[in-house]
Amino acid sequence: MTLDNAPSLVAHALHRGFVSGHVRQEVIRGISLEIFPGELTMIAGPSGSGKTTLLALLSGLLSPERGSVISLGQEIETLPERERERYRLRHTGFVFQGFNLFSSLTSFEQVVLPLQYGARPGTDLKQAALYALEEVGLTEKLHLRPLELSGGEKQRVAVARAIAKAPELLFADEPTSALDSHNAERIVVLFKRLAHRHQSTIVCVTHDEHLLRHADRVLHLRDGLILDDKRRSA
Ligand SMILES: Nc1ncnc2c1ncn2[C@@H]1O[C@H](COP(=O)(O)OP(=O)(O)OP(=O)(O)O)[C@@H](O)[C@H]1O
Ligand SMILES: [Mg+2]
Repeated sequence: MTLDNAPSLVAHALHRGFVSGHVRQEVIRGISLEIFPGELTMIAGPSGSGKTTLLALLSGLLSPERGSVISLGQEIETLPERERERYRLRHTGFVFQGFNLFSSLTSFEQVVLPLQYGARPGTDLKQAALYALEEVGLTEKLHLRPLELSGGEKQRVAVARAIAKAPELLFADEPTSALDSHNAERIVVLFKRLAHRHQSTIVCVTHDEHLLRHADRVLHLRDGLILDDKRRSA
């Protein structure tokens, strides 16, 4: 469907390992790939296979030891730290594995406050935040703080925060791990719609096999390598 598109993310021969104690573990062992706008790309694989690490490399949160990532035509790694920050705020949304919510803010504030930095010019921030929260089914919980929310509700706040600015690149690490199957599907279908409608690049890690059927493309990771790369027809 978007095969003739230019890729928005290009990874070339990525390598990344970690040292703990005297032991070095190679986590990403030579991954090259192109990811396209207008598609929901899902990354699946066993625990410890390197999914979170690959997402961190693709999003520029982590530097590769060897290889490179070109994101929207730019090698983020070469930017000075401040510009890298600015680049992230402008172009990327994240849903982290641990949600990363602020304990003192209400759901509405969690979503609307970051919009002040990352939203496109002319966006009605309040409307964008309310709409995103509605999309994840949290209209009734706007004024509650994380302590007053269930795990799945917190996760949906994190998703709303990431999608509110309609980022060009969205990286989501197991964004449905705390959700029941109905809400999990709802989030993934929402991601797919965003990708198709706004030509966003959405990269989503999941270990839920049922959700993979909604992806435009599925990458299977095993021991730091891509074992399988399947494109699905719409
Ligand atoms: N900062 C770090 N320091 C040391 N080792 C790390 C670090 N981050 C990841 N690792 C190791 O890299 C391997 C892959 O981790 P990663 O988090 O990428 O896996 P994953 O596929 O996301 O797993 P899960 O499905 O459990 O989230 C693990 O064995 C982990 O111990
Ligand atoms: Mg992980």
